[in-house]
Amino acid sequence: MPITVEKLGQTFFAIVQGVDAQEPTVSEDINAIIDAIDDYGVLLFPGQTLNEEQHMAFSRQFGELEVTYQKGRKRRLRAEFADASNLGPDGELLAPDSERAKYNKANQLWHSDASFRAIPSKYSLLYAETAASKDGETEFADERAGWDALDDERKTRAEKMVAGHSLMTSRIKTGFKTFTAEEGVSLKPVPQPVVRTHDPKGRKNLFLGSHAGEVFGEALEEGTQFLEELLAHTTQPQFVYRHKWTVGDLVMWDNRRVMHRGRSWDESERRVMRRTTLVGDGPTVIDGQPINEAEYLRQEAS
Ligand SMILES: [Fe+2]
Repeated sequence: MPITVEKLGQTFFAIVQGVDAQEPTVSEDINAIIDAIDDYGVLLFPGQTLNEEQHMAFSRQFGELEVTYQKGRKRRLRAEFADASNLGPDGELLAPDSERAKYNKANQLWHSDASFRAIPSKYSLLYAETAASKDGETEFADERAGWDALDDERKTRAEKMVAGHSLMTSRIKTGFKTFTAEEGVSLKPVPQPVVRTHDPKGRKNLFLGSHAGEVFGEALEEGTQFLEELLAHTTQPQFVYRHKWTVGDLVMWDNRRVMHRGRSWDESERRVMRRTTLVGDGPTVIDGQPINEAEYLRQEAS
């Protein structure tokens, strides 16, 4: 059966029918999915039933999986998964005031997954084993539409900017403090452009979020104020799509082009979700300057 793609949001977010993620996907459908995510930023594959192996196998068809951070911490899931549940390592419900719950709380701030890596991630694939009976949605913000609607003066300023992204910046905002010694060393801010140029068709977008804490070469207050202004612009209702989860939803998004944030729910209710994340294609900044990413990849391939 051929796959179908239908846009659900105003500018982005599409539902894809005709894919069974348990089975290997034929190459023409892989290409169609990549085209669709280039255009729509976020894709919903409803009605899936995926164990961990199948989730990883489907994801690997689009690239290499990231291995998650938090070395030295006991984990509920294997290292190829980010745990988007409210469960501890033994499957127990987390106490709301626990350090792990504070760590997870930062998922409710706007962000792109793993923008704190020197080569920031490409796609994320989040699967719902259970869903909150009420609330707990995920919101997505279209940073391409945000860029397109930006005035020329701010576009010119943003295009030259390089921001420092760190996991520590977002976690500190929600009161998480207990970084391991290794994390303290490894979580130094990495440079990322404020405007991304990865799209093969040459469309640009903003690249923002709560991991960004400074603009290199600018006074701290001035830089962060401008980043906050851009964030407020890009998260206006016309650029945001809110997804209400149903059991069996697999949602795949392009971290290079959309931000997302989880919404709160009654955490006495178990929520079991897991995410794979794909390694990015290449650098975004060289010698402190933003590069044209699509052009860089074309040159690397030739
Ligand atoms: Fe996330």
